[in-house]
Amino acid sequence: MNVITCIAPVNIAVIKYWGKRDESLILPTNDSISATLDTDQLHAKTTVMISQDFKEDCIWLNGREEDIKNPRLQNCLKEIRKRSQLSGNMNDWKIHICSKNNFPTAAGLASSAAGYACLAAALAKLYRIEGDISVIARSGSGSACRSVMGGFVRWYMGFDKYGTDSLAKQIVPASHWPEMRILVLVVSDEQKKVPSAIGMKRSLETSELLQHRIMHTVPERANKIQQAIVEKNFKTFAELTMKDSNEMHATCLDTYPPCVYMNDISNSIVNLIHSYNDAVNDVKVAYTFDAGSNATLYLLEKDVSAVVGVLDYFFPPLENAENLEYKRGLPINASEPSQNLLEKLNLRKHPPGQLKYMIYTKVGDGPKYFVNPEDHLLDGQGNPINYP
Ligand code: DP6
Repeated sequence: MNVITCIAPVNIAVIKYWGKRDESLILPTNDSISATLDTDQLHAKTTVMISQDFKEDCIWLNGREEDIKNPRLQNCLKEIRKRSQLSGNMNDWKIHICSKNNFPTAAGLASSAAGYACLAAALAKLYRIEGDISVIARSGSGSACRSVMGGFVRWYMGFDKYGTDSLAKQIVPASHWPEMRILVLVVSDEQKKVPSAIGMKRSLETSELLQHRIMHTVPERANKIQQAIVEKNFKTFAELTMKDSNEMHATCLDTYPPCVYMNDISNSIVNLIHSYNDAVNDVKVAYTFDAGSNATLYLLEKDVSAVVGVLDYFFPPLENAENLEYKRGLPINASEPSQNLLEKLNLRKHPPGQLKYMIYTKVGDGPKYFVNPEDHLLDGQGNPINYP
């Protein structure tokens, strides 16, 4: 088989990767931990094909031809060709790559993580590579190494200067904590953000808080949250998730000039979650933010209906929200908040449309391969198909 197609998941970190000890090898300054999201709702899909007839390497991303010379892409291809088990001169054949995401880039989900994980998984199969593939995904984008497996995943920073021990490993599979749910809240925001690679470089150069985070907070927190995941202790899991998101964003503000990723709506979501947890006298929901204004909430299935009811009340959708597919992913039955709860919350209702939409999903498995030729994104000649 000279053609392989697969899909790979998005992941959302609960202990954040923020800082590189080696820029070109993409080696992090601390361990990070994430949950892999179900590919049924969100995924990148990639077809890779090699042929002696191809004149040059090519890549198409979301329907557009992109520059194959992109250094991160070249890193992946180099790593793959080095480890290839293909016989004869097949290793020198040119490659065509076609990839697309099933979610809008506007969702602000680290699409590069799913994209590079998918590329690594597809290439590894095509070049018959055995063993760990997180290193290959990492050479494209750091967080991508956590998307090559399902469930809860820890990326160990490693200590080797060549990065041979900077690998992702599964903590537990998705089936370990089947009640865990994820709500991605897409916040209306047109503002251009500092790309995470630039932001983390600037933080490493200027933030003292980042040094504290690397030396003290993360090593301790990563072990504690791993234990909470193993023990399915939601309260500890949620508290550490929120604290780590807050510390990452505090580090971004401590960076000079500061990187501001969260906006007023993001901060209102934080406020609402804390008020809700206080009102129900428990920790039912956790928020986390990456390098953007969108919130990701972690919560248990039994609490989704009530939490979405509260979100609908305080962040009402636009009137034509039905047409805009306001609620995406798994079906949600929101329950209206009681008067008593609203009194306890005592918060201001936002004008409609501050949240663009929400995606409801759960923890899922790693990359999946397709065997049916109809699933390929490249035709027999290696040209992209399935595009308008
Ligand atoms: C805030 O993996 O996008 O999402 O390695 O430069 O490609 P590069 O960075 P990237 O950074 C992700 C940062 C984050 C936190 C996280 O996912 O751990």
